[in-house]
Amino acid sequence: MNLSVKLGSLNLKNPVTVASGTFGYAYEFAGLVRLKDLGAIVTKTITRNPKPGNPTPRLAETPAGMLNAIGLQNEGLDNFLEAKLPMLKKIGTKIIVSISANCLDDFIFCVKKLQDSGVEAIELNLSCPNIKYTGLNDKNKSVMFAQDEKATFKAVEAVRNNFKGTLITKLSPNVTDIGAIGKSAEQAGSDALSLVNTFTAMAIDINTGRPKLANITGGLSGPAIRPIAVRMVYEVCRHVKIPVIGMGGIMNSDDALEFMIAGAVAVSVGTANFVNPKASMDIIKGLKDYCVRKKINDINKIIGTVKL
Ligand SMILES: Cc1cc2nc3c(=O)[nH]c(=O)nc-3n(C[C@H](O)[C@H](O)[C@H](O)COP(=O)(O)O)c2cc1C
Repeated sequence: MNLSVKLGSLNLKNPVTVASGTFGYAYEFAGLVRLKDLGAIVTKTITRNPKPGNPTPRLAETPAGMLNAIGLQNEGLDNFLEAKLPMLKKIGTKIIVSISANCLDDFIFCVKKLQDSGVEAIELNLSCPNIKYTGLNDKNKSVMFAQDEKATFKAVEAVRNNFKGTLITKLSPNVTDIGAIGKSAEQAGSDALSLVNTFTAMAIDINTGRPKLANITGGLSGPAIRPIAVRMVYEVCRHVKIPVIGMGGIMNSDDALEFMIAGAVAVSVGTANFVNPKASMDIIKGLKDYCVRKKINDINKIIGTVKL
C-alpha cells in the first residue's frame, strides 16, 4: 500500500505531519513518538531574533479547543541553526522549518541563512494572530501578511527569490476570502499551502471581569474549528493547483481523512498533541487501516474525492 504523498518536490513517506508550535522541536516527544515514522515535522516558528513571546497567562482551555497567545516565543534563527537543526536532521524524516517576520528584510535574511544551511523545506508563517506586523499594504497600515492579497504576494515572492527548496505558505482563517489569498501565494511562487492557522478569539473570566489571556485575544484551535477548517481547505483546493496541507482540530484518522477527501494532500496534527502525544502515530495507523478496509492501494486516490 502506498501512503507516500508529494508536496512540490518534497516526498513524504505518509501524509501525517505535526503542526508548528504544537510539537516543540520534536526531541521533546522522542520517548513517546517514533519521530522518523512521521510524514514530516514542522518546527516551532522561528524569527530572525529571539522573542520572549507575550506575557502570561497565554493559554486558556475552551469547550472543544484552546486559546493561545504565545506570541512566537523562540530563541531566534542562530540558536535554531546551531542547537536545533543538527538534531532535527538526524531524525530521518522531512523537516519543514517554520519562519515568521514582520518585515520583508527579516524574511529574506532568515531564508538566505536557511538555504545555506541545507534546509529542504520552509513553511512561511504569514498568519500568526498574536504578533504585530509592519505595514505592507497600499496604505502602509499594520496588517497581517495573510490578511492581504498583495502583502501575501510580496512576502512569498521575496522568499521565493531567495530559496530553492519547497516553499509552503501558511494561511490565516481570519479572512473573508481565503481562496483569493491562497491564489496570491500560488502566483507568487509558493509550492504548497498550509491551512489553517488559529482563529482570533477571546474568553473572559466572569469572576474578575478580565480576559483570560494577558494579550486579551488569542488564537482558537482544536476540534471547535474543524468544520470551518475543512470548508476552507475545500475552498482553497478549488482555487489553486498546488498541494494543500490541511489542519484544524484533527484528533484522529477520521478527521484527517475528512481533510484529505476535501482535497488536502497532507495533514497537520496540532492541538491533539497536547491531549494525546501519540495522536500522530494513531492517525498514521488509522489511515492504513482505512485503506485496507476500503481496498485502496494508494492514499493519493482519496485526495479531493468529495462527492457533491
Ligand atoms: C500552543 C500553540 C502554538 C502555536 N504556535 C504556532 C507557531 O509557532 N507557528 C504556526 O504557524 N502555528 C502555530 N500554531 C498553530 C498550529 O500550528 C495550527 O495551525 C492550529 O493550531 C490549528 O490546528 P489544530 O486545531 O490541530 O491545533 C500554534 C498553535 C497552538 C495551539
